[in-house]
Amino acid sequence: MMEDVFKIKNEEDRVSALYDIFDESTRLSTKATQIEFLTTIRQIEKHLKPGMKILDLGAGTGEYSLYFARNGFEVTAIELVEKHVMQIKEKINSEMSLQLFKGNAIDISMIEDKSYDIVLCFRPLYHLVKIEDRMKCIEEVKRVCKDNGKMFFAFISNDMVILTETMCYNSGFLNGDTYNHENFKLVDFPFVFHTVEDCRKLLRDSNLVINSEVAADGLSELLADKINNMDDESYRLWLNYHYYCCEKPEFLGASNHLLFITEKSTLD
Ligand SMILES: C[S@@+](CC[C@H](N)C(=O)[O-])C[C@H]1O[C@@H](n2cnc3c(N)ncnc32)[C@H](O)[C@@H]1O
Repeated sequence: MMEDVFKIKNEEDRVSALYDIFDESTRLSTKATQIEFLTTIRQIEKHLKPGMKILDLGAGTGEYSLYFARNGFEVTAIELVEKHVMQIKEKINSEMSLQLFKGNAIDISMIEDKSYDIVLCFRPLYHLVKIEDRMKCIEEVKRVCKDNGKMFFAFISNDMVILTETMCYNSGFLNGDTYNHENFKLVDFPFVFHTVEDCRKLLRDSNLVINSEVAADGLSELLADKINNMDDESYRLWLNYHYYCCEKPEFLGASNHLLFITEKSTLD
């Protein structure tokens, strides 16, 4: 039962049990779910230069790590869940420079200070239940990133989840008790949810400078059935429209996944 998973105190056991319910290896396999991946890759590539080193924290089943390793970059992937580590391992080939560690994003002491140009922190922030641990994770990201490097963080939008839950999965959602009826804050289960302002506060409290804020998947989950039925040309045009919208501030909150691109403050 999903509720039992949340009672598990040990971080690794809880996250592992969650991914026994959610199959991460197929999450990005439809036209609709691919939008988040393609948008994120496009944003990373704006900052990527040949020879740069990439660290992927919370690498899942390796979609981002493998993509960049296949494209000739030196990549390090760190992942908490053993099953996911094994799934990445199976896909690494001898032509890739991909180092893989099983580890927790709040302590990556195996990684040297200031050693990566690009640090991806996609998801640990919405698994780490305690705010102190989310801050610790961001401190680790800052520590291992070069002074002129870029740090990418992903969040799940509190406000958009209410919309998609109600419209796609449970029409009685708004009658339920999984959110505060006054301020619309969701109960942080099975993930930790952030409003756009929560994301900004967390990153700024960690003394990071926000360069860009991106609606990573926009309305894709809400419109999944329509998007999945598009022919390839319609999908290409839809994607192009999404790319046009995704950096507009007025679209930001209306996206299930939020991507923040940051750099170190010169005052740090
Ligand atoms: C939803 S998956 C996303 C994978 C991939 N980064 C992506 O964006 O598609 C989140 C991954 O983060 C991992 N994870 C969660 N908390 C973590 C932590 N504290 N340290 C390392 N990995 C963690 C989970 O095990 C899971 O594989």
